[in-house]
Amino acid sequence: MTIKWYPGHMGTAQKKIAELIRTVDVIIEVLDARLPAASANHPLAALRRNKPCIKVLNKNDLADPAVTRAWVRAFERESGVRALPLSAKKPREVQQVIKQCLLLAPNRGKPGRTLRALVVGIPNVGKSTLINSLAGKCLAKVGDRPAITTCGQQIELGNNIILLDTPGLLWPDLRNQVAASRLAASGAIGSAAFDYTNVGLFAAEFMMQRYPDMLRSRYRLTDLPDSAAALLEQVGRRLGCLAAGGEIDLHRAAEAFLRELRAGKLGRVSFEEPEEEAGISSQANGELQEMLRVPVSEKG
Ligand code: G4P
Repeated sequence: MTIKWYPGHMGTAQKKIAELIRTVDVIIEVLDARLPAASANHPLAALRRNKPCIKVLNKNDLADPAVTRAWVRAFERESGVRALPLSAKKPREVQQVIKQCLLLAPNRGKPGRTLRALVVGIPNVGKSTLINSLAGKCLAKVGDRPAITTCGQQIELGNNIILLDTPGLLWPDLRNQVAASRLAASGAIGSAAFDYTNVGLFAAEFMMQRYPDMLRSRYRLTDLPDSAAALLEQVGRRLGCLAAGGEIDLHRAAEAFLRELRAGKLGRVSFEEPEEEAGISSQANGELQEMLRVPVSEKG
């Protein structure tokens, strides 16, 4: 027998999102540009149906530009989808979101024809930062812990455009352990939910395979060691993560390494590429149809 991990309140939240989607013209789905698949809420793809959608690839300032371009191409193959890499911290880049909304809903955003856009995304992808930049003032709390905003709100942007916020309504899917490790490495999951050493080892292994030059340059290594554990030890030594007796404290080394990686100190890093992800979301959509009992014929 297969037991599905899917608490009742998550089903309620998904239904709430589905209801909200029916009332809006455009969906603004905020993703982390470094991990657009792992930071997506896959059920959303099924709930969206044919509603126009802007996939905001936020934190673009931290992501590998070539990989982000590949994601944009992959997303825009889907009808009604525009992909927009940006940094929510840069108000000029953020204005592109409004332009895209008006392009996707050309009959809206006029007097008497208000454009309604729903902002969705899992915690920590930068929804509050984006909304604040769009609104030009501090409306939603921005914080260092996931899921800090808890109540919904409508934000009038003043040009016949209304944003609907959905804080706390979407969660990452942590059943896929690779996706969960990427989320933890990126900082999207609170530190209480994972073991620093394991995630540090995962990130070290990934960087050795994908971005070895960044490691060499940041930590002044001529040769990379054979294993992720040995790499973390070298990084720990460089960063002064010592335990009593002069041993390397691997936990502290992992913590320091992840802090540097997340802050972009090693360079612009993407944790996943579109080709690797093909098929994952369609599988997740299939599971959602079953969980919400949405008739397959209604799928977008
Ligand atoms: P959420 O509403 O989706 O939960 O996310 P929120 O806006 O609270 O942002 C989560 C963290 O991501 C914040 O960092 C925020 O500053 C950072 N962030 C948002 N957009 C960008 C971006 O485009 N680039 C970069 N580099 N960071 C971004 P924090 O350290 O948790 O808080 P703070 O100290 O910056 O306030």
